[in-house]
Amino acid sequence: MRTENGRIIHLADYRPTDFVLERVDLTFELDPTNTKVDARLIFHRREGADPGAPLVLDGDELSLSGLLFDQGEIPASQYDATPESLTIRDLPAQTPFEITITTFINPEANTQLMGLYRTNGIYCTQCEAEGFRRITYFPDRPDVLAPYTITIIADKAANPVLLSNGNFLGGGGYDEGRAFAAWFDPHPKPSYLFALVAGDLGVVEDTFTTMSGREVALKIYVEHGKEARVGYAMDALKRSMKWDEEVFGREYDLDIFMIVAVSDFNMGAMENKGLNVFNDKYVLADPEIATDADYANIEAIIAHEYFHNWTGNRITCRDWFQLCLKEGLTVYRDHEFSADQRSRAVKRIAEVRHLKSEQFPEDAGPLAHPVRPTKYREINNFYTTTVYEKGSEVTRMIATILGPQLFKAGMDLYFERHDGEAATIEDFVKCFEDASGRDLTQFSLWYHQAGTPLVSVSSAFDQPKGVFTLSFEQLVPPTPGQSAKEPMHIPLRFGLLLPDGTEAKPTAIEGAEVTGDVLHLTRRNQVVTFSGIAGRPVVTLNRGFSAPVNVHFEQAPADLAHIARHDADLFARWQAFSDIALPNLVEAARKARDGGEITVDPLLAETLIAVAGDETLEPAFRAQILALPSEADVAREHGSNNDPDAIRAGREAVLSVVAHQGAALFAALFDRNHTRGSFTPDAASAGKRTLRNAALGYLAIAEGTPERAAKAFATADNMTDLSAALTVLAHRFPEAPETEAALESFRARFAENPLVIDKWFAIQATIPGSGALARVERLMESPLFNGSNPNRVRALVGTFAFSNPTGFNRPDGEGYRFLASQILEIDPKNPQLAARILTSMRSWRALEEVRAEHALNALRRIAGAEKLSADVSDIVERMLN
Ligand code: PHE
Ligand code: ZN
Repeated sequence: MRTENGRIIHLADYRPTDFVLERVDLTFELDPTNTKVDARLIFHRREGADPGAPLVLDGDELSLSGLLFDQGEIPASQYDATPESLTIRDLPAQTPFEITITTFINPEANTQLMGLYRTNGIYCTQCEAEGFRRITYFPDRPDVLAPYTITIIADKAANPVLLSNGNFLGGGGYDEGRAFAAWFDPHPKPSYLFALVAGDLGVVEDTFTTMSGREVALKIYVEHGKEARVGYAMDALKRSMKWDEEVFGREYDLDIFMIVAVSDFNMGAMENKGLNVFNDKYVLADPEIATDADYANIEAIIAHEYFHNWTGNRITCRDWFQLCLKEGLTVYRDHEFSADQRSRAVKRIAEVRHLKSEQFPEDAGPLAHPVRPTKYREINNFYTTTVYEKGSEVTRMIATILGPQLFKAGMDLYFERHDGEAATIEDFVKCFEDASGRDLTQFSLWYHQAGTPLVSVSSAFDQPKGVFTLSFEQLVPPTPGQSAKEPMHIPLRFGLLLPDGTEAKPTAIEGAEVTGDVLHLTRRNQVVTFSGIAGRPVVTLNRGFSAPVNVHFEQAPADLAHIARHDADLFARWQAFSDIALPNLVEAARKARDGGEITVDPLLAETLIAVAGDETLEPAFRAQILALPSEADVAREHGSNNDPDAIRAGREAVLSVVAHQGAALFAALFDRNHTRGSFTPDAASAGKRTLRNAALGYLAIAEGTPERAAKAFATADNMTDLSAALTVLAHRFPEAPETEAALESFRARFAENPLVIDKWFAIQATIPGSGALARVERLMESPLFNGSNPNRVRALVGTFAFSNPTGFNRPDGEGYRFLASQILEIDPKNPQLAARILTSMRSWRALEEVRAEHALNALRRIAGAEKLSADVSDIVERMLN
């Protein structure tokens, strides 16, 4: 474990290294428990650097076994080695010199999964953010770039596959049953992009011919026997490569591109240069084991990691404060890719749902931080939805403000100006300013001010004058460390809908800059007038979610229904429908808690039925309408003093009204949208399945019996339908014999496939109500559970804490107590995993007081534990502050 517990790193303290790293030459002699690493590093002192400054290299749990200077002995008085650093003094002022460091590491004992570790007998590395320093002493920071030569020596029989970054130099047999391979990566890179993989793996090969006609070998490595499940990932990779050429003009730059799927991985995947390492969950798919959501995730993550080759690798980050430079931008790129491959509107709805359910709560709670933070204790804790998803939204806003041509010009300039460099957010923004001539100073506040802005809107119409007025007020709420905020530049796409369905074309607009259909808010208060408006228009605001803000606008439900049924922007239609539904759900929750009859605005069911039944609309969109705002959405809207049981009870009451009123439609949708016998994972077929399964959910409520779901389960011929039917059974009829039989049949059928068993865990972990905890505890005893595999832990413990509001937030606090115990148990083995699961409690202050008190006690218990990792103590302390 790291010992620098408590040290805070500040952006303001950034300064370049005293030494420039010219070349890296690493030799690994692999052994499961005693791997030898020789690191030959060539440095020279940076021009202008202090000629007496020592060379200070980072380490983490290392011990030094050998040190040479220019191949010769170095006196012990000249250096100091601790597990965390190696300091060498009296180095040359000008001439380059070579340092050779020998360390021994134990991959088998590496349960943190950072640095070099073993997973199912495979050697594998994870170096982002600061894992390389667990392999050798090194200037382990992203602004130190060098070309790497790697030699891997290993037992031949056990390791027929020996991989590292770059191009293959050569390899073969070696004496005494050893094999070796050498790799050279000519592209200077920071250490976090280093990777090594070795072991006995199967491979699927293909090729891609780039836009300039070069042939690139594509190889996906998986455990033997799983080769048949990589077809979709390979296809997604080739589509990603093509798309990046067509849309961003980016060509791949090595002779080979490799992906390795491993079963123990802390995150989704990693963009190591030329050698991406993936959580196997995001590579392996076939209709029997993968849902449509899995296919969509695989496509998005394959693309994301591939796109990093330019946004992250060719242009990397100067320091970790700039993480959003690569992550926000790359998420934006993968979002655009998926939008082009699938339905743009439906993709946007899914993105916004995710943003609102994950990022908005983060931004409204104790863990809120700017997209570009200015300080951190543990960088691992900044791989957040704020850096990734809000970072993507900020990039999207630049595109919205500049328009497609100028955005493209800015991106081109960025690639041209910073290729091969470690850049900052300021460098990035400057490219768009230079390409467009627009001043983005105020816009840049999006990188610096945390918190979701609230835009309050009111409208007035002066019929005789034909003048329509919108009054805006914007407010950015206080967040930890930032009490006062400046007004932001908020680009809102808008339309003024007339009763006849057309859009008003104002003769003049005053009070705000408007470019095309984008209205630019820049002041705290702004009154905008639209002249030449014939009849009272209905405003559709923040179309396409052009800005990641909360909008408070008291629009009449009838106006919202008009938007939901007629807006030209499908996203806006969904948003308007949510705006009808949410107040009803919040009110129902209030009634469920305080008493009183729950009533539902008839427009809600009417609009839902009209839109969901509109055969001119794509099924995937209609399915999004059927998926009412979630319990978490209601909690967020309600804001404080939340009672998850009341929220659920209220929402159930509303669901029941909709289910009964729409029963005929749902039965028709269920019958008409089956895809049996012809599974393809494309977006259109997936949309049909989503719609059909959403209808099944309502029918289960309307019919009140498990029969239909049991039959759907029995006849399903793909994992999407099978798991959807199982979810309906388990969540709606947890005690029914049909459910028990289905759960058992699922378990028996997939017991050999842990990734599928994760679905079985997750479905049961989300069965609502107070019985969930006992169920989770029982499942942890199952031989199929493995507490040291991150996917298993996330599927069972993580899903319970993040996605079972009533089960986890039991009024007696048992859910929190359970989580605290789990965190304390996981932390010594895998601090990153523990810290991430703990963030499930980030909204604890928004709970009603009895639960909040229990949550506080659980957090205090964690905080008071004797030994905590930097990861967990950072999170728990911020949550308690
Ligand atoms: N950089 C990886 C990605 O987004 C995420 C990651 C971070 C993976 C840290 C592992 C460790 O694409
Ligand atoms: Zn990324």
